Amino acid sequence: MTHDSSETLSHLRTATADAHRQLEDQIDIPRTCAAPGTYVRLLEGFLGFFEPLESALQKFDGWDERGFHWRDRAKTPMLREDLHAFGLSESDLASLPRCTDLPDPTNLAEAFGCAYVLEGSTLGGRHIMGALAQSQIPQAARHYFASYGEQVPARWREFCGMLATFPTSDSDAMTDVAVNTFHKLGAWLTVAHE
Ligand code: HEM
Repeated sequence: MTHDSSETLSHLRTATADAHRQLEDQIDIPRTCAAPGTYVRLLEGFLGFFEPLESALQKFDGWDERGFHWRDRAKTPMLREDLHAFGLSESDLASLPRCTDLPDPTNLAEAFGCAYVLEGSTLGGRHIMGALAQSQIPQAARHYFASYGEQVPARWREFCGMLATFPTSDSDAMTDVAVNTFHKLGAWLTVAHE
């Protein structure tokens, strides 16, 4: 038996709502976008978390069979492109700190719980593009927040369809990993900004 899409999603959404709000407060987009320095620090923090996480997630088998193609959805290349736009070289990027206290999914379903957090950030990105439009942040440094552009709603619906293919028995574990992903990202950004 599988959850229908809205049931799976509402479980994830309800369980992660507080953690999302906390992260949103912590990131404080208006302040972050007000100056290139704070914006760059946020992107560096994201890279330090997303790069090792995405590389760990890709080690699970079965993404393509579920319709999730990393070459189209990975956030790391977008972040790298944005940081290059600020003049950071490959070796600058290599020397940035990477998070080692990452979420630790044990199977593909749990890995999809992590991916829910990463993919969901494209929805927030649409709102953040509004804040960026009022800012001095260069166009060439907005790839991550723009993500799939006009395709964001369609790609999100497609992702929700993938979530719905997992059995109900996976739902609690997927949700636990998603909550944990938010908490660990928040903790990492706190450390990275000290
Ligand atoms: C810091 C500024 C952020 C703002 C202002 C923000 C705002 C939003 C908004 C308005 C939505 C709902 C969008 C819609 O339904 O069209 C949303 C959804 C979401 N955001 Fe954020 N967000 C932020 C950061 C993040 C980050 C950093 C992550 C994760 C890395 C994230 C993960 C999610 C997820 C998973 C959803 C989907 C919830 C669902 O509908 O199931 N957000 N965000």
